[in-house]
Amino acid sequence: MDLVNIRDLFRSKDEYLDTTVTIGGWVRSLRNSKNFGFIVVNDGTFFEPVQVVFSNVLENFEEVEKLNVGAAIIVTGKLVATPEMKQPFEIQAEKIEVEGASTPDYPLQKKKHSFEYLRTISHLRPRTNTFEAVFRVRSLIAYAIHKFFQERDFVYVHTPLITGSDCEGAGEMFQVTTMDLANVPKNPDGTVDYTKDFFNKPTNLTVSGQLNGETYAMAFKNIYTFGPTFRAENSNTTRHAAEFWMIEPEIAFADLEDDMILAESMLKYIIRYVLENAPEEMAFFNNFIDKGLLDRLNNVVNSDFARVTYTEAIEILEKHNDKFEYKVSWGADLQTEHERYLTEEIYKRPVFVTDYPKEIKAFYMKMNEDGKTVAAVDCLVPGIGEIIGGSQREDDYDKLLARINELGLREEDYEFYLDLRKYGSARHAGFGLGFERCVMYLTGMSNIRDVIPFPRTVNNCEL
Ligand code: 4AD
Repeated sequence: MDLVNIRDLFRSKDEYLDTTVTIGGWVRSLRNSKNFGFIVVNDGTFFEPVQVVFSNVLENFEEVEKLNVGAAIIVTGKLVATPEMKQPFEIQAEKIEVEGASTPDYPLQKKKHSFEYLRTISHLRPRTNTFEAVFRVRSLIAYAIHKFFQERDFVYVHTPLITGSDCEGAGEMFQVTTMDLANVPKNPDGTVDYTKDFFNKPTNLTVSGQLNGETYAMAFKNIYTFGPTFRAENSNTTRHAAEFWMIEPEIAFADLEDDMILAESMLKYIIRYVLENAPEEMAFFNNFIDKGLLDRLNNVVNSDFARVTYTEAIEILEKHNDKFEYKVSWGADLQTEHERYLTEEIYKRPVFVTDYPKEIKAFYMKMNEDGKTVAAVDCLVPGIGEIIGGSQREDDYDKLLARINELGLREEDYEFYLDLRKYGSARHAGFGLGFERCVMYLTGMSNIRDVIPFPRTVNNCEL
């Protein structure tokens, strides 16, 4: 069908003014008088809708004037300038075809709906201003991320979603099985007989593509993954989802410093890209969701991220322990309240925290010379806390094996990983950017459920 996108009407207005155009979209609102009426139509291609004026010259005037909000229509008419109005133009309808009617109980009426309510209709919420903006920007961020890495010759690797290992060692995995759970086959000693299962061994949905990603970095030097990850983390918070997307670059012949430089330039690139390519949506977020958003993001691209070691951060935070629910002390993991205090109150910009105690980090991180800390980095941003977690990887075979044994991990599960340290081991590092947290950061949305089309969180797997 030869339809014009509303986006093109706005972007190339002069080309279309005073010509006949045809658009297809959904009715946002309708007002009518005796012989004429106005329909606001949005086709999802642009943040602004278009006003259509119709009158009783239409053959199907009676059908049109009774349309309900939500109906799908195809409008043909002349695009005329309306310099005295808020919108630069309107369409004077010559023909309106009703593609699909709607009913009066359409759940999205003109009044303002709460985000909580809209979460209950996740199949319809992308038709609202806020969610249209969120999901367009989400799509642009994904594109910007690929563009950033592809421009730098990183190879995009598709790591598996079903795995036999637990990358983070946190035991927060969703098991994958074809066994009848009501009748699980057992060994004589009462343990589960996985030889009867599909893969002949226990398997789970991946928590991170990193380990597989590292194997490709040892072949291509610079790679990245961008895919879904799953965590059965019983955290019912505004920044945890059970299914989320992660971007995991891995760079060879590189250390923690290179890792941080990459992370900082990636985040700045994404922010710039979105500010340039979604100005209407970003202005909307700034006006209606988070007043200081644009100033904050503009400051981020024009200044350096702060840096602090974990040990220094603890010294700073200990002085403010009276403000925290969880008191800080060396050895304890940073909670969201501590992360946000550092980035929002102390540094007032993104901050890299490095060199965490080995006990609170994953087995694969490179041991520092002090024997107590590892070459880890978390990037914390205002409004969210941790958005990136990364590290330089342990590239020494003996040290890695010792760590695997120390933590009681099954050596046979990590043979491939150990091989990398046996056959041409090279210094390497990488990080994981939580995609949804990145979308929250760039839009100012404060709940992860509102930046995922169909969120999966504790007790929630609707649609
Ligand atoms: O810090 P994490 O656990 O790091 C890893 O998984 C490493 N394997 C990454 C790497 O070095 N290649 O997770 C990385 C990021 C976090 O900083 C956070 O932004 C996001 O993933 N994340 C979550 N996002 C939403 N919901 C959850 N449950 C998340 N868990 C982690």
